[in-house]
Amino acid sequence: MNQKAEITRKINGTLEVPDFPIIPFIEGDGIGPDIWRATRMVIDKAVEAAYGSQKKICWLEVYAGEKGYRETGQWLPETTLETIQKHVIAIKGPLTTPVGKGIRSLNVSIRRKLQLYACMRPIKYLGSVPSPIRYPEKFDMVIFRENTEDVYAGIEWQAGSSQTKNILSFLSKEMGISLPQDAGIGLKSISEKNSKRLVTKAIAYAIKNKLPSVTLMHKGNIMKFTEGAFRNWGYEVAEEIFGDQTLTEKQLLDIYNGKQPPGKVVIKDRLADMLFQQVLIEPEKYHVIATPNLNGDYLSDALAAAVGGLGLAPGANIGDDYAVFEATHGTAPTLAGKDKANPSSLILSGAMMLDYIGWTKASKFIKQALEATLKAGVFTLDLASQVKGAKAVKCSQFAQAIIKRIGSF
Ligand code: NAI
Repeated sequence: MNQKAEITRKINGTLEVPDFPIIPFIEGDGIGPDIWRATRMVIDKAVEAAYGSQKKICWLEVYAGEKGYRETGQWLPETTLETIQKHVIAIKGPLTTPVGKGIRSLNVSIRRKLQLYACMRPIKYLGSVPSPIRYPEKFDMVIFRENTEDVYAGIEWQAGSSQTKNILSFLSKEMGISLPQDAGIGLKSISEKNSKRLVTKAIAYAIKNKLPSVTLMHKGNIMKFTEGAFRNWGYEVAEEIFGDQTLTEKQLLDIYNGKQPPGKVVIKDRLADMLFQQVLIEPEKYHVIATPNLNGDYLSDALAAAVGGLGLAPGANIGDDYAVFEATHGTAPTLAGKDKANPSSLILSGAMMLDYIGWTKASKFIKQALEATLKAGVFTLDLASQVKGAKAVKCSQFAQAIIKRIGSF
């Protein structure tokens, strides 16, 4: 008899996925309920089309955000984190960050508490949607953004506070550094362990998917001991763990005369500012980009714009133990409850989740059907408003248009 069961992780890190896995979901705030409803219908249909009655996801709701507060009195209940830990995988809609309620960001809290250290954001043009770029079809890359440290850890002190005064005095007396007395202070820390585990994931992804290069993005010419160290540790880990599967750009030129040998990934590095322009001019030269937290945040939203906007950009937060797949955009409060949002970001995050658990046929069905839907000119408001004469469909109608096309290729 087919029984629902938890996904488990084996000692060697691979997943044991039952045919009827229980997967927790967080609906999310704002447009969350609209896009989650659409996403769930699309995923269920794709799984059914791919595997008939052999496989099915058994969804389990867990609470966070405004619904969490309504149901449990807590923005991020401990049981939510425990349930995700128990089931290994989860998917979530966007969450409001409660301002001045003592919790910095629910998303940052989830990522840090579950040690989801790699934020993975594929940037791929699906065709047919408006783009500010002349050749958006050249974009096909994946960003691996470090998720747990850098200035994003939120260690900072307000100008004029007693802590800031203490730090300013320490810096002046002990280190001979003089800063303006009215400065706010933030701390940037980047560690060897966290940099290496992120770059390891990025290189392993490139090898698994037979991609030609991994680029380490950093601002190490200015921030030598944080971003520069990230670059150095990246090269080190490439040599230590993947020595026979990687080579540097210098080795490529010196040993192979610039002709990339099969089965080897080129590891290169680029300064962040330079990469921002380079990736727009020659996107075909970048396949996987590994970067510290803040660079990665900026880059992934900028590149999402190149391939159709935030409404189309999927994402996943992945650690050694757990993975949470999520829409990369926020709660879009002005569209909340109006059935007008674009559900594609969460739908594509769902496709990433299916790939992650090895249900690749269902994932492929989703991507094919979404591309065909866009090709047919079926657009939600965010896309239709950029195309002359286009008429917007509702979020739920968009989902139905995808469902109609699933499995028909
Ligand atoms: P946002 O991403 O919600 O909205 C930015 C712009 O993009 C708005 O014009 C919005 O209407 C549009 N947009 C976003 N997603 C869309 C979609 N699926 N379809 C159509 N249009 C879409 O960012 P904002 O306004 O800065 O943040 C609103 C709230 O979301 C805040 O509380 C913020 O903390 C939270 N947030 C949550 C995130 C998460 O849960 N991962 C990520 C970013 C923000």
